[in-house]
This record gives sequence, C-alpha cells and structure tokens, in this order.
Amino acid sequence: MRDLDLSSLNPVLSSSAAPASAREAVQALRASQIREVANAGFGIADVLPFWFGESDRVTPAFIREAAAQALTRGDTFYTHNLGIAPLRDALSRYVGELHGATPADHIAVTSAGVNALMLAAQLVTGAGERVVAVTPLWPNLVEIPKILGASVETVALDYGARGWALDLDRLLAALRPGTKLLMINSPNNPTGWVMSRDEQRAVLEHCRRHGIWIVADEVYERLYYGAAGERTAPSFLDLASRDERLICVNSFSKAWLMTGWRLGWMVAPRALMDDLGKLVEYNTSCAPSFVQQAGVVALEQGEASTQALVADLRASRDHLAAALAQLPGVDVKVPQGAMYLFFRLAGAQHSLELCKALVREAGLGLAPGSAFGPEGEGFVRWCYACDPERLDAGVARLTRYLA
Ligand SMILES: Cc1ncc(COP(=O)(O)O)c(C=O)c1O
Repeated sequence: MRDLDLSSLNPVLSSSAAPASAREAVQALRASQIREVANAGFGIADVLPFWFGESDRVTPAFIREAAAQALTRGDTFYTHNLGIAPLRDALSRYVGELHGATPADHIAVTSAGVNALMLAAQLVTGAGERVVAVTPLWPNLVEIPKILGASVETVALDYGARGWALDLDRLLAALRPGTKLLMINSPNNPTGWVMSRDEQRAVLEHCRRHGIWIVADEVYERLYYGAAGERTAPSFLDLASRDERLICVNSFSKAWLMTGWRLGWMVAPRALMDDLGKLVEYNTSCAPSFVQQAGVVALEQGEASTQALVADLRASRDHLAAALAQLPGVDVKVPQGAMYLFFRLAGAQHSLELCKALVREAGLGLAPGSAFGPEGEGFVRWCYACDPERLDAGVARLTRYLA
C-alpha cells in the first residue's frame, strides 16, 4: 500500500495550512465600542455605568416568583419551537389589545429580541441581497444581515433644532426596487426618535409596491412618552395586515425589566411559521420553559408595573435633560421614546476616545455616539433608567470633567 502524506489531510501537520480564522463576513463585523469603553473601565472600582441599555432595577418580584414556581414544579424540559401555547395565547391577547387582532399562529416566542432579529433576518434575507437600515442605530440591526452575507446601506436621520428626524424622501429613494429588506427601529436606540404613523404608512405603502420586507424592531414600544393614555408608540402592526411582508420584533427585556431572562417574540405572516420553526430548532430549539411560564405571568399581571416604570422613566428623562441642559457645550433634546438621551457634547468629535477618558478620569460610563454609526459621532448616549440621585451623581462627575 502506498504511504499517504498525512500532513496534507491534517491541518495540524500541514505547514502550508492557512491560519485558523472565521469567515470573512464575520471578521468584518464591527466590534462593540460600548464594550471597548467598558473594558477601559476594568479595574476602576468607582464607575457610574450608564452605558448599557438596561435599568438598574431587578425584575418585579411577581415575575421572579412565577419562574421560581415553574422551576419548583419541574418545568425544565424543551418546549415547542414556537413557544408554549399559554404564552402564545397570552401574547395574542396582549398584542391584540394594543394593535388589533393578532392570532396566536402569527406569534413565535424567541430567546429575546436579539434572537428574534436574527431569526427574522434569516427568514427573509441572505447572501448578496441589499438591506437598508435607518441610523444612528443599535449595531445589531446593521450587523446581523452582514453575518448572512447581505450588504447593508444606511440612511441617516437628520439632527436639527427639534432633535432627530427622518428625511422620508431619502429613505424611500434608498428603498429602490430590488431591495430585499428594511430594518427599522422605533422608538430608536440610541436617539429616542419615534417614527410617526404617517411615516410608517408611507414606508409601508412603498415597501408593498416594491415587495420589500420590513423588519420592525419595536422592543421599546411601551417606553413611549406620548399623550396621556397612549400606551404604546405607533406600530407597523396598527397599519398592516398580519399576512403581508412585515415581521415585528419585540421583547420582555425593556417593559418588564427582564434583560437577563432572554425572552421575546415576533409577529409574522402565518405562511412563515413552519420555516421559522425550523430556524428556531437550528438556532436555540426553544426559549427556556420556566422563563416562558414567567412570561405568561408578566403579560397577565404586569400592566401596572410597566405603566409605573414608564412614569418613572419619563421623570428620569426630564430630570437628566434639565440637568444636562445647564452644562456648557451640551446640546440635549428630549426625545419621545426609549430610555436614552443622545446628546451632542462639545469636544466629542472622537466620542470613543472621550468616553474612555470619561471612564478613566471621571468614573462616568457613557456610550460613544460612534458606536451607532458615523452619523452618531460627536454625540454620547446616556441610559437614564435609574433613580434621579444616581443621575445627579453622574451629572456632577461630567460637570467636574468638563470644568
Ligand atoms: C433597538 C434594540 N433592539 C433589540 C434589543 C434586544 O434586546 P433583548 O435581546 O434583550 O430583547 C435591544 C437591546 O438593547 C435594542 O436596543
């Protein structure tokens, strides 16, 4: 028998093998600049962190107790790919009340919003396709399609005297025939911009005409500071039928303070559900079963705590904006949604470097505007989901630093 040259088969033995590396599309992904700032703070004990998109409060006790009870009952097994029936039914009632009839077979439970965004993108786009996203934007919406090999073109919001605004004509021009998907997030992270119902209608009609999918990230829909009695920001679900090319992504993370639980959902055409089930199978198989049980309780008993949270967030937003407006070099507008102030700061032309310096020299943790796209440069993001006293302590640090 002829001797085989094993080195050509075994990369460990082969001297000519290329070094191990991830796919090019993955190597090209942007690393998180927020993490980079947080890393600059490692080892510094006294940092006030306002950089991540999360409240400093724990999940309400009745939701934690529901999960504990489910665990005690032994609720530790795989579930249906699309979620347990009681949760899909509860979501059907909840979404239906806010946005009109939404049968449970249009709803899939996911492992939070990020997973729902990935699944939605996997469902409708792929290599070589053209995706449009409105920025500044939480990076995941821009990077996820790139993982799949799609190319992403961005349309920037404009910043003016009244804050961030959409140039609708520019967006519609970018959504030219052949575009596969629009990724849009309102209320928006980081700017707090809220898309108006008229803008949604125009975009929806345009996308219908050209067969373009919309993935609407509405995870902040309840963190909306509209007129009294308005429980939610305008949603594409208010305008669209449930069977057209629209996938709405949502999450328990923000409105029920459940970031660490990893529970979310999407509303999508019935015709996608079988294929979505396969994707869930190959991504996560299902969301954790005891977490889903707690989700039912959050939906059924959580309205008062969500409304109280939104009232507190509104007060924190106003408190922080008023304090920042006093500082020299700060240009701050009060947005209508989400839980961030995204403000211009004189001297923040290199916001990443500035935020690293703020951590090291002032013990203040903010997110650099450039983390959300080039149009965010010159701005910094402050998550105000905490008590006013903590915000005051942060403002005092910023004031000292600027002085
Ligand atoms: C715009 C936006 N979408 C989706 C998410 C996803 O959150 P989660 O995966 O915790 O549901 C976030 C989190 O910060 C976000 O800011």
